[in-house]
Amino acid sequence: MTEIVNQLNSKFQNATPEEVLAFFLNEYKGKIALSSSLSIEDQVLTDLIVKIDKSARIFTLDTGRLFPETYSLIDKTNIRYGIQLEVKFPDYQEVEKMVKAEGINLFYAGIEQRKLCCKVRKLDPLKRAFEGLEVWICGLRREQSVTRQNIQLVEWDEANGLIKLNPLIDFTEQQVWDYIKTNSVPYNKLHDKGFPSIGCQPCTRAIESGEDIRAGRWWWENPEQKECGLHKR
Ligand code: ADX
Ligand code: SF4
Repeated sequence: MTEIVNQLNSKFQNATPEEVLAFFLNEYKGKIALSSSLSIEDQVLTDLIVKIDKSARIFTLDTGRLFPETYSLIDKTNIRYGIQLEVKFPDYQEVEKMVKAEGINLFYAGIEQRKLCCKVRKLDPLKRAFEGLEVWICGLRREQSVTRQNIQLVEWDEANGLIKLNPLIDFTEQQVWDYIKTNSVPYNKLHDKGFPSIGCQPCTRAIESGEDIRAGRWWWENPEQKECGLHKR
């Protein structure tokens, strides 16, 4: 698999995200999906994907703790593109068990508790969403954080047995916004209120000017730990 991944990376070394997506959506039709958090990157990918293949799968993980603005954006996106984002939910029995043992806002109690919550509310539902897939499209960019500087356009996700595709890997935040504005892509209104990176409501705060774009995510933890486990390397 490493060989195929290396070949694909060299093939698309200088390609645009459109070219990359057009190839993969055709080559892996029915076995490829975008995992969207409704971020600006995922909204750009949604716009690009819908313009190539409206029937392509796009799913989102509803942790049950998202911002109201994020739920509004799910609706707006569906209406704008005439699609229906697949919404995946956590297993209610697992959530009940966790809340009973650790409390409703367990994430503030420590890294173990925070990771447990991310596992139950995001990782386990993600595993279910992967059924039948060969390629997983994500909105990761190198510029986003210290934990993402070494990502590749095409990666082999050993843990999930899937090809992981990061079409916007080399985009800057400015390029993402330029695409959004030029193509009138719907975006989360919280971005206009000091939230550059948005996850679950209890684990996301607005940032001050000059702060890192992910400073508002799990702000009480060290930068090296700020990953929910979705993107293990
Ligand atoms: S996280 O690890 O900090 O939560 P981030 O919000 O930067 O990740 O998103 C990175 C990529 O992970 C997104 O582009 C998307 O592909 C995937 N992702 C993150 N959260 C979700 C979610 N709730 N539903 C679906 N995909 C998600
Ligand atoms: Fe739970 Fe916070 Fe992780 Fe969301 S980001 S799943 S609320 S710990």
